[in-house]
Amino acid sequence: MTIDTTAINQGMTHFDGFDAIWLFGYGSLIWKAGFPYLERRPAYIHGWVRRFWQGSHDHRGTPDAPGRVATLIRKPGAICHGMAYRITPETLGPLDVREKNGYLRLITELHFCNDRDGEQAEGLVYIATEDNAAFLGDAPYHRIAQQIAGAQGPSGPNRDYLLNLATALRELGVDDPHVFELERLLTPSESIKE
Ligand code: SIN
Repeated sequence: MTIDTTAINQGMTHFDGFDAIWLFGYGSLIWKAGFPYLERRPAYIHGWVRRFWQGSHDHRGTPDAPGRVATLIRKPGAICHGMAYRITPETLGPLDVREKNGYLRLITELHFCNDRDGEQAEGLVYIATEDNAAFLGDAPYHRIAQQIAGAQGPSGPNRDYLLNLATALRELGVDDPHVFELERLLTPSESIKE
């Protein structure tokens, strides 16, 4: 089911008065920024894992044939790697629209992973939680891969989202077994079985 979280996100006041805000991206925001930023740094956050459990009715699927895109699921002790962007507050408006199908802004602690390791900052991450109407949840890997292989929407094939994310994670040196298993199932040499 499609929903629209834009108004909820725009009601958030936590960073009011800030000149710049750190945003943590873990899905398309890693490989397709599509927005202006002041700085971009590989980073990670604690307590979450990346999963293709969120339905996409507006970007990588349609209301009748939703695709699957990444969200974060809480897992104590886990670390999720991604990309942090320092953005101006004006950039949040278009981002709220882009992430409107179930994602809510959440405040998080970001840790930067470069030679200045150990540095951290408070920032934002868009997360689609289990209770949003577009949440699809877990399914066997072959089913998730099948759904991704068959879906496309206004932003393009769902498959491209997954493969671009896998490539970007590999370039960052990040091991993500969930994403890489889906990539394996979606590569041409592998047939997706029932
Ligand atoms: C993100 O990338 O951080 C959010 C999910 C998405 O837009 O793919």
